[in-house]
This record gives sequence, structure tokens and C-alpha cells, in this order.
Amino acid sequence: MKKILVVGAYGQIGSELTVALRNIYGVENVIASDKKTEPCESLKNGPFAYVDATNKDSILEIVKKYKIDAIVHLAAILSANGEKNPMLAWNVNMNGLLNVLEIAREYKMERVFVPSSIAVFGPTTPADNTPQETILQPTTMYGLTKVSGELLCNYYVNKYGLDIRGVRYPGIISYDTLPGGGTTDYAVAIYYDAIKYKKYTCFVKADTMLPMMYMPDCLKASTDLFQADFSKLKHHCNFNVGSMSFTVTELAASIKKYIPDFEIIYAPDYRQAIADSWPNSLDDSAARKEWGWKPSYDLDSMTRDMLEKLGEKHKKGLI
Ligand code: NAD
Ligand code: SER
Repeated sequence: MKKILVVGAYGQIGSELTVALRNIYGVENVIASDKKTEPCESLKNGPFAYVDATNKDSILEIVKKYKIDAIVHLAAILSANGEKNPMLAWNVNMNGLLNVLEIAREYKMERVFVPSSIAVFGPTTPADNTPQETILQPTTMYGLTKVSGELLCNYYVNKYGLDIRGVRYPGIISYDTLPGGGTTDYAVAIYYDAIKYKKYTCFVKADTMLPMMYMPDCLKASTDLFQADFSKLKHHCNFNVGSMSFTVTELAASIKKYIPDFEIIYAPDYRQAIADSWPNSLDDSAARKEWGWKPSYDLDSMTRDMLEKLGEKHKKGLI
């Protein structure tokens, strides 16, 4: 691969995955792009282009300008925002993806990376150790677009021989860029509020359990799969990747080990129903077998690192 375009680079994952890709492929060879234009601190050192994924010509202009031969497509409307504006979620998540896939086909791209999500699962899916192959009947618009996206990507692999890969990310926890309006955002906000106020009001109930992953493992999963030998993959765009699962009570208890007077109160809202429709934990044996997936962090090692990094940001007045 010579030039990689990251679409949606200024979001929670893109702001760090673009840096990780630049470390591997060279700063000038990874072009960050987004509909947002306020500069993203971590990406200031390399090329940036305005791209609206819902406008095919907008992507095409940058593909031609930089002679792009691989795309990492991260632009999406996440679950909670998607329920507030389902048509926007459909438009960005489906038409944006279709534009990327069509350009990849027309310009014979070497590789495309498209994340899916635990949102592909729904209330009828087995909730514990959710299998790789299982019932996909989500109840959110975001989940609908992610299932359709997986099917669409597989269609382009099978019909046109494109190299497309993707994982079903669990909730991603990080301290660099805030999450963009998902249901798992509570697992990030709790750390910010623990540092700032020693108190957090949680929008899901105490016993809510979801699969989660710390950003270093998310970057590892993404770059490892991005570089994996395509001929060894039996799955392509839908790998379950597990890391850790915990209830909010367990998350708060982990924070209390470091901030003993931390308090949590509960005020569940519309996001509770979304969380309740998703699995507790994932069977990720296909990812482990096909490309060697193995996470590094558990709840306590993540908590220690999150609180240390956010503590430093707080001291500098950055949060
Ligand atoms: P995010 O909301 O933080 O970032 C998405 C980025 O896309 C934003 O910078 C936004 O400005 C940009 N964007 C939105 N509409 C656009 C458009 N029309 N054209 C160009 N850019 C546009 O999301 P994220 O958490 O970084 O997610 C990245 C990918 O990972 C998405 O596909 C998401 O569904 C998936 N994912 C994320 C999580 C998570 O916990 N963060 C979990 C599962 C799956
Ligand atoms: N973190 C994402 C969300 O909550 C999962 O895809 O929407």
C-alpha cells in the first residue's frame, strides 16, 4: 500500500488509529479526512482533507489527488445519536459506506477497512459468549446499518474480489478524544467525572453489562487485522473481538480502588434499552484463530492507566 485515506479521522477511534497507521506506513502516506474541520491535535503533523462521505465526488477528489490505494472508513453516526436522528444514521452509515465501496471497486483499491459493532446483535441473540455466527436482529437504526454494512462488504469481497476487513468493536474506552454519541459512552464519561468531580451520574443501571475494550487493544486489533494475510481469513468484515466485560457496579468498584471517595448515582434514560439489547460477552475464537487476536488490558489495568492519563490532563487544565 502506498497511500491510505482515513475517512472520519477526527473521531474517537480515528484520532488515534490514524496516528498508529502513520507510525507504520509513514506520516505523509496516511491522509486524515473528516467532515469536521477544527484541527485535531494528534493529527496536525500530517496531511488532512475535508471529505463528506455521503458525497461520492468529495471522496473521489481526494482519492485522485493523493493516488489513494487503501481506505480506512470510520465515518459513522453511533447508536445513541442514531436513535435521535435515524435518517441521518442511515444516510451516513449506508450511503457513506456504499460510496467508499464503489470507489474502492472502480479504482481497484488494494485494501479497505470498515469497522462493524456489537450493535449488530439484538435481544434475540444469545447474550453470553455471543457466537461469531448467530442471530443478527438489532433494534437500533445504527445496528441495522451495521448488519447491512457487514453484508454489503461481504458482497463486494465475493462479487468483485475486493480485500475488505473489519471487526465488531465492543465499546471503546479512551482518554484522548471523547466518544461521538454511542451507548457505551458512560464507560468513558465515568473516568472523566471521577477525575473532575469524584462523582458520576450514570445513564444506564448498575447491573448493565457490556463488552468493552481499551484503546491500545482497539488499535492493536485494527492494525493487526489491517496487516493480516488476506488469504488466511475465512471471515472478512465481521470478526467478534472480545477483551473485557463488566457491570457498571464493577467499573465503579475498580475506580474506587484508586479514588476511594468516588460516588456513582443512576439515572437511566433511553440508552438503557439499547444497552439491554446488546450482548454481555463475545466469543472471539475466529479472530484468535485467523489472525492471532489477543487483548492485553483488563478492567483494573485500564482503570489505572485511564485515571493516570486523565489526571495529567486535568492538572494541565485540558479537561
Ligand atoms: P466518532 O463518532 O467518534 O467519529 C466518527 C467521525 O466521523 C467523526 O469525526 C465525524 O465528524 C465523522 N463523520 C461523520 N459524518 C461524516 C461524513 N458524512 N463524512 C465524513 N466524516 C464524517 O466514531 P468512532 O467511535 O471513532 O467510530 C469509528 C467507527 O467505529 C464507526 O464505524 C463506529 O460505528 C465504529 N465503532 C465504534 C465504537 C466505539 O465504541 N467508539 C464501537 C463499535 C464500533
Ligand atoms: N460504542 C458504540 C455505541 O455505543 C458501539 O458501536 O454506539
